[in-house]
Amino acid sequence: MDAETSAVGAVEAHPQQPSRVCVVGGAGFLGSILVELLLDDGHQVTILDAFLYGDDSIRNLLGRPGLSLVPGDLRDIAATVHAFRHADAVVHLGALVAIPPATSTSSSRSKSTGTPRGRRRP
Ligand SMILES: NC(=O)c1ccc[n+]([C@@H]2O[C@H](COP(=O)([O-])OP(=O)(O)OC[C@H]3O[C@@H](n4cnc5c(N)ncnc54)[C@H](O)[C@@H]3O)[C@@H](O)[C@H]2O)c1
Repeated sequence: MDAETSAVGAVEAHPQQPSRVCVVGGAGFLGSILVELLLDDGHQVTILDAFLYGDDSIRNLLGRPGLSLVPGDLRDIAATVHAFRHADAVVHLGALVAIPPATSTSSSRSKSTGTPRGRRRP
């Protein structure tokens, strides 16, 4: 079972069948996949993301019923409280995963996916 399927399974295994899920880092590689799966399953999804690499990875999801965005940093308590306030479950995928070398720039990330070039899908 891959990571995103596992995360969806964890949400669905909740005894109360949560329908409102906040995905921190929902604009990232794994987050954007998870958000789409959750929306497809009828969950309401809030993305809390600092959009460090833009929003290309979720462009196809913008406007989907049940999706809301909270642009912000997880370390900002006001943004986090706002994003979590109605959530039945929170999935935390917000992180600095592949910190580029000091000589790299954000251009080392794919413009189409917002994820580092060369990263393989799990
Ligand atoms: N990609 C993989 O193959 C893989 C495998 C195993 C585990 N993981 C873990 O899954 C998590 C997500 O990985 P990913 O590949 O999707 O990363 P990613 O870099 O593609 O996405 C991370 C997202 O988090 C956001 N973010 C970073 N710091 C933030 C902050 N302080 N506040 C709000 N948003 C913030 C970024 O803007 C980005 O959209 C990481 O913890 C990673 O270690 C990833």
